[in-house]
Amino acid sequence: MSTEVKSIAVIGAGTMGSGIALVSAMTGIKTYQVDVSDAQLERSKAGHTKIMGRNVEKGRMTAEQAEAAAGLLTYTTSMTDAKDVDWAVEAVFENAELKKGIFKEMQATFRDDIVLASNTSSISITDVATAVGDADAPRVIGMHFFNPVPVMKLVEVIKGLATSEETTARTIALAERMGKVPVPANDRAGFVSNRVLMPMINEAFYAWMEGVAEPADIDSIMKLGCNFPMGPLRLADFIGLDVCHDIMMVLHRELGDPKFFPCPKLRQLVTAGRLGDKSGQGVFEYGKK
Ligand code: CAA
Repeated sequence: MSTEVKSIAVIGAGTMGSGIALVSAMTGIKTYQVDVSDAQLERSKAGHTKIMGRNVEKGRMTAEQAEAAAGLLTYTTSMTDAKDVDWAVEAVFENAELKKGIFKEMQATFRDDIVLASNTSSISITDVATAVGDADAPRVIGMHFFNPVPVMKLVEVIKGLATSEETTARTIALAERMGKVPVPANDRAGFVSNRVLMPMINEAFYAWMEGVAEPADIDSIMKLGCNFPMGPLRLADFIGLDVCHDIMMVLHRELGDPKFFPCPKLRQLVTAGRLGDKSGQGVFEYGKK
């Protein structure tokens, strides 16, 4: 396997992919931000400019460093433009079939000596790796970043059944180079982060639905009493209620325990298209989008 990572392809320019691409470029790595949508790429680029501008204002980086990082970013709708990269990380929607399709495309496009990582937040790495077959499964791994990627320190590193030690060691090394703290977890639905976080968020919806307290009070109690930076319902809006719902469905299906079934209140908001920050309305109001 190639060892020095000088270039990366990040497939998917949504919140997570965009954040990963920015952190990669700020690490000094040539970064291809790939997405099927030009509009999404535009949004990602605008977000990068805004965050780096704020970093310069706050004195966290110089204008020259921001310019250098911007110069390392290429936005493209064609994966082929990135065909020579040394690393690929997929960050598309949390949908197993979609992810598998992307992995097949990555396998066909990129060199056969690079790591193929997935930013999956609950879907099994072993399952995703079936898309590339036994020969390539050792170079498939989970590299789970957290939102907002530039701020959150953790990368949860998930080994699938066939992931090699070399792939794992290289993933840990790259995450550390990006200034992150990699922590290993095994390939069970939700890994550790979402196995613990999502049922807690789901329970906050039950507390609201049962009238234990109003949403703002549930959040205040958890912020002031448990030192959470955001209350669980505000965090659910921030993550996206559809994402929370989909992760609970994966936990429910894979682990088989009814306790993982999404709360009816969460399901109702998702059905109504109230998805949180991104739609302007979720548990709380953010102004129409
Ligand atoms: N991109 C880059 N930087 C950002 C940012 C973003 N999207 N959002 C906030 N920041 C930076 C700000 O610039 C600010 O830095 P300075 O003060 O030095 O300028 C710093 O973060 C704090 O931001 P704010 O003052 O605006 O607000 P805050 O103190 O409330 O912090 C927060 C915001 C970092 C998001 C904080 O509320 C927090 O940590 N919330 C919890 C986030 C969390 O739990 N994330 C994990 C979600 S789960 C997940 O991602 C995985 C999954 O699979 C679902």
